[in-house]
Amino acid sequence: MSGSGIEDGAGDGALPASLTVDAFDVRMADIADIGLERLQALSISVGWPHRAEDWQFAREVGHGFVALDEIDRVLASAMWFPYGDDFATIGMVMTSPRLQSLGVGEWLMKRVLSASAGRTYRLSATRAALALYRPLGFVGQRTVFQCQGEARRSDRSASAQPRRLVEADLAAVTALDERAFGTSRAGLIARLFGQSVGYGLERDGALAAFALCRPFGRGHVVGPVVAGTDEDAIAVVQPHVDEHDGRFLRLDTHLDEGLFPVFVARSGLRIHDTVLTMSLGAPLTDPSTRAPDRPVTYALATQALG
Ligand SMILES: CC(C)(COP(=O)(O)OP(=O)(O)OC[C@H]1O[C@@H](n2cnc3c(N)ncnc32)[C@H](O)[C@@H]1OP(=O)(O)O)[C@@H](O)C(=O)NCCC(=O)NCCS
Repeated sequence: MSGSGIEDGAGDGALPASLTVDAFDVRMADIADIGLERLQALSISVGWPHRAEDWQFAREVGHGFVALDEIDRVLASAMWFPYGDDFATIGMVMTSPRLQSLGVGEWLMKRVLSASAGRTYRLSATRAALALYRPLGFVGQRTVFQCQGEARRSDRSASAQPRRLVEADLAAVTALDERAFGTSRAGLIARLFGQSVGYGLERDGALAAFALCRPFGRGHVVGPVVAGTDEDAIAVVQPHVDEHDGRFLRLDTHLDEGLFPVFVARSGLRIHDTVLTMSLGAPLTDPSTRAPDRPVTYALATQALG
C-alpha cells in the first residue's frame, strides 16, 4: 500500500475504518447514500460511459461502498450483486486516477467481500485490475470481448423467425437464463425485462433463445443473450441490430469462435476492449462452454452483472 497509512478504528472486522491516503483521510460510506451525479463524475473520471440511470439501476440490484475524502468527494467505489445466498458478481470497482495504486481499491474490495461473505464470486477484470484481484484469490476464466460501434443492418435473412417477447414470457426467459448462467437471476432478469425490448425463438413450444436490449451508456446494449446454437443467437440479436441501424450499439461476449462473433463484427460492432472473467471459490459453469442440452450465455447483461 505505497503512500497510504492505516488508521485504527471501528471498521468491518479487521478492516480499518479510515485510510490515510497521500496527505488526507479517506472514509467509507454506503453507496446508497451518494447522489447519482457524484457517482457519474467518478465513472467519467476513469473513462466509463455510465449514465446516472445506469448507476441507479446498479444500486437497485446491488450494494456497495464508496471512499470519500475530507470534503466528501467520491474517490472510489466497489459493488456486489447477489444472486441468491451463494453467489454474487462484483463490479463498478474504480478509483479516481489521481488516487490509484494507494490501496483504496483493495480496502473497498475487502469490505465488499466481507459484507457479502459466504458466496462464490465472478467479476470482469480490466487489465489494470488484475493486480487488485489476483492477490484476493480470483482466478482467470475467460476473456470477454466488448464489441461496440454504429450498428449496421444486415441483408442476411435469418433461418428462424424470432418474435417480440411479452410480459408472459418472463418466466421462460428467467428459466433459460438460469440454465445458461448456472444460478437463478430472477430479480435481475425481471428488472432488465422491464427496461428492455426482447426477442425470443421457440422450438416445440418452448423458448430456445432470447436477446434483450436496453438503453445503456453511449447508446443501447444487447444482453443478456442466451441460445443453444450460433444460428439461434444470431436470429434473436439481428432484430436489435436492425432496429438500431446507424446508432451506437454494444454487446459483451465470451464467444470468439464460430458464426456469432463474425455476425457481431459484420453488424458494425468491433472489439473495443477485452476484460477477463475471474472467479473466486468454486466457479459456476464456464460461461461459454457447451454441454448437451445446456444453453450458452452469448452476451452479458453488463460486465458488472455478468
Ligand atoms: C483497477 C483499479 C480499481 C485499482 O484501484 P486502486 O485503488 O488503484 O487499487 P489499489 O491501490 O488497492 O492497488 C491494487 C493493485 O493494483 C495496482 N494498480 C492500481 N492501479 C493500476 C493501474 N491503473 N494499472 C495497473 N495496475 C494498477 C496497484 O499497483 C496494486 O498492485 P500492487 O499491490 O502489486 O502494487 C483502478 O486502477 C481503476 O479504477 N482503474 C480504472 C477502472 C478499472 O479498470 N476498474 C476495474 C474494473 S474491473
